[in-house]
This record gives sequence, C-alpha cells and structure tokens, in this order.
Amino acid sequence: MTSPADSWPTYDEGDTFLTGADEAAAIRAVLGRRYYRYDARPLQETWAGRLEERLSRLLGAQHVLACTSGTTAIALSLLALDLPKGSPVACPGFTFAATPSAILLAGHRPVLVECDDDLHLDVADLRRVLTAGAAAVVVVHMRGMASDMPAVCAAADEFGVPVVEDAVPVLGVSLGGRPLGTHGRLGAFSTQADKPVNTGEGGFLVTDDPDAYARAVIHCGAYEGRLARHFPGGVPAVDERSLPVYGWRMDEIRAALAVSSLDRLPERIALQRTHHDRIAGALEGVKGIAVRRPVAPDACSGQQLLFRVVDADAPLAARFAGRLRERGVPARTYSGEGPGYNARAYWNWRFLDLPEDALPRTRRRLTELVEVPLSPNLTPAHRERLINAVTEAAERCPGRVP
Ligand SMILES: Cc1ncc(COP(=O)(O)O)c(C=O)c1O
Repeated sequence: MTSPADSWPTYDEGDTFLTGADEAAAIRAVLGRRYYRYDARPLQETWAGRLEERLSRLLGAQHVLACTSGTTAIALSLLALDLPKGSPVACPGFTFAATPSAILLAGHRPVLVECDDDLHLDVADLRRVLTAGAAAVVVVHMRGMASDMPAVCAAADEFGVPVVEDAVPVLGVSLGGRPLGTHGRLGAFSTQADKPVNTGEGGFLVTDDPDAYARAVIHCGAYEGRLARHFPGGVPAVDERSLPVYGWRMDEIRAALAVSSLDRLPERIALQRTHHDRIAGALEGVKGIAVRRPVAPDACSGQQLLFRVVDADAPLAARFAGRLRERGVPARTYSGEGPGYNARAYWNWRFLDLPEDALPRTRRRLTELVEVPLSPNLTPAHRERLINAVTEAAERCPGRVP
C-alpha cells in the first residue's frame, strides 16, 4: 500500500511545470480583453504573434502558425501540401489515435507502417508503403523519442514525397543538431497539458515553405486579407477565396501562457532527461525487460519510461504493470480490453476498420510494452521507487507472477 505522501506526479492529478509568472501572463491577456484569433493590432503586438516569433527563433524555422491543437496542426500541415483528396498517407502503427484522425480530417487515407523493436518507424516497411503509392509521410516522434529522420527523409525523397513530422511531444528536442519538427517539409507540435509547453489545449506548425504556410494560414482562419499580416515582406500568390476557412487559430490567453512558459523549456527537458537516463541506466542489466532506446543519445524528451516485458503476452504484461501500481507507480500497458483501452494501440482505432493483425510486428512489441509517466517534478525518491518496483517485478517474470 502507498500513502498520499507516496503519490506520483501526473498532469491529470494536477501536476504542472507552470509558475506564478505564467499565471500572471495569462491574467494580463484576460485583462486585455482581446482573445480572438485576429483583431486590429499588428500581428507582432498580439500574444499569438509573439509566440510565433519566439518559436521561429527557437527552432530556426521561417514560419510558425499557432493553432488550437496538435491534431489541427497535423491536419493543417497536410492541407497545406495541397494533395489530391483521398490520397494515401503513411503513418506509423505506434502513435496516438489523433495522428490517423488528423489524416482523415485533412481528407486523406491513413496507411499504417510497421515499427521496429524499439517502436520507431520501420524504414524498410515505409519503402513498401511508398512503393505502393503513398503521397505523403507523417512520421511521429512518439512518446518524445525521435524517429530516424535522415533515413525517413532519404526514403521519402527517393519517391519525391513530402514528410510531415508529428512532433507533438518533442518541442526542445533535436536530432543531429537540428530541432525535431524542422527535418520534414512541415512539423506539427502540441501545447496540450502534458506536453513540454502546457496551455491546456493548443498547438502550432512550423515550415520554411512560404506557399504551404500561406495555405495553412488561410485554412486556420485568416480571411479578408488577414493573410498579409503573416507576410510583411510580400504575400505569396495564393487565391485565399479558393480555400476553406476553419476556426483553428490559437486564442490570446493560451498564447500568453505559452510565451511565458517557453522560458523554462530547456530546464524542463533537462530534468526529464536526467530522470529518464538515470532510470534507464539503473534498469540496463535487469533480465526480462528491454527499455526503449532512442535512435541517438539525447534524441528523447524523457517524458515517459517505456520498456518491453520481453516475450510477454497481454495478461503477463498486465500483471507486470499491476505490480508496479501496487508499489505506487502508475504503469499502464497497451493491450487489453475495456474502458482502460489504450488509444495508442492501432487495433483500437476501429474508425479505420483494420484487421487486428494488420501490423504483426508492431502488435507483438506493443503487447509487451509497459509505460510510466516521468514528470520533471519527480524526486530521487520517485526514481528509486520505480527502479525497485521494476527490478522486483522482473525477478518474478516472465510467466512467474502469481
Ligand atoms: C503523437 C501524438 N500526436 C498527436 C496528438 C494530438 O495532440 P492534441 O491533443 O494537441 O490534439 C498527440 C496527443 O497527445 C500525440 O501524442
């Protein structure tokens, strides 16, 4: 049994990385009484405009567009590509349900790709899907771990196909010295509550492609010439009346929160990585489990610990996670039925009408997977608790948990 003093910080229990300065910024925006996506002010005097400017400098991207969520950022990125309606779009079988949902929202057809043993997009299987005619790739840096972007981009380039990064959980993480989200044609981020910058709900996209950006700005809700505010140096030749307009732009209160909390992004990522690396290091030699590995050192936000209970079926993985929960560690699995189903397991995306064994390798690996959230606010005592609980459960596994 654990006491309340032994609780584990998670965002749905109210754990945040916000400060009084963030609250004050949001209150200033509230008191300013101008919350709508556009008003008479020049863009650079609005919170959303300031946020876009800050993110553009941080990521070294020409254009940034703040919007309502990671899902709308992915959909806008795809809409910005101007593909024929109903195009097949590749995405990995290990992602949150929002990724294939965003592909549908943009009017296209998700085509799932297998993942490797570390649950990164399998580039050999991506080539199969590209050969079959995929018109774009949405690559996902799932649970804060980078996909192998040089390999993914090289495969897509061979087929002349654009890459959109679902960089939803990886703001502040780089691969090969380049920020994630800026490797593909467009990158989509979220500022939802458990992401590196927390505005409750929210997101943004980044790109260096002015034409794609112009289309995204219009779809996001710019009308009657407001597109020009995003292009002080001259507007690309896009007929704004030919594109549907959705109300997907970020409001001022969220933008104010994001601008303020961006200051502590490096500190947050550093804390999460320290927790992750210390725990992963301590679990390295533990028999029967395999901690998910990043494709390169530091190519990881450290916001969750993921490990496989090697060769486990769904009941064994569930018993393993249950043991951790008994020790006050909120572990969960990816398989299993019921209200606690996992929306990151592709066989639960019934809206796609896929056979359960559509991706046998990914399914096997997801069935073995156990996940624990790692807040930046963890203490060394939390880390110890997790390491001891996993080590103890592993001693009784595989197949020996009563
Ligand atoms: C990989 C991934 N893509 C997309 C999303 C959707 O982001 P949002 O909730 O901001 O729409 C999430 C949400 O957690 C996610 O984890």
